[in-house]
Amino acid sequence: MLLHIPGLFTREEVLRIREALEQTDWADGKLTAGYQSAKAKHNLQLPEGHPLAKEIGTAMLERLWSNPLFMSAALPHKVYPPLFNCYTAGGNFDFHIDNAVRQVKDTTERVRTDLSSTLFFSDPDDYDGGELIIQDTYGTQQVKLPAGDLVLYPGTSLHKVNAVTRGTRLASFFWTQSLVREDSQRALLFEMDTAIQHLTRDVPDHPSLVQLTGTYHNLLRRWVEV
Ligand code: NI
Repeated sequence: MLLHIPGLFTREEVLRIREALEQTDWADGKLTAGYQSAKAKHNLQLPEGHPLAKEIGTAMLERLWSNPLFMSAALPHKVYPPLFNCYTAGGNFDFHIDNAVRQVKDTTERVRTDLSSTLFFSDPDDYDGGELIIQDTYGTQQVKLPAGDLVLYPGTSLHKVNAVTRGTRLASFFWTQSLVREDSQRALLFEMDTAIQHLTRDVPDHPSLVQLTGTYHNLLRRWVEV
């Protein structure tokens, strides 16, 4: 399942974040790549633990944790601290699958990468190329979103970033370990939760809502890992 979550940050917030990112020092993206993906990766990245990455990352996670769409679709258990990248002057990242488990720098904390997210900080008009290409069960998807918007997709998918041939593409990406590991089970719960939300809005007093909500939680209880 691929999900677009719009407007995590307002226009003014995006401008402030972008300005800060434009003025900071970037490092070679190969530093955080595995042996194989380093050969495919040509971009810049903020070093892990960089103060600006920590500051923006914390604000991002606060927004996500209070975003009903993200909570319902991702069912997050824990999130890897957001990383930041910059693609410019032909920068690209060829097809790869992310490592299954990431260890958080300087800790013993490990995160299984059930879900990947990219939050765009540049607008589509700011650069040419730079599309995020994701191969999922329904074919190849091409993603290039307005600044402040996020895309959520399964960590199991093959993906790449097309070369940026004009301008600069600034974005953040991170992984989420979900309470529900299987994408198909998580997608089913998300559809059911969405339907329950719509019914709660349209027919709030219908007695079957209690039953349906109970069924949702009983399915979640069956599949949840904490
Ligand atoms: Ni990747």
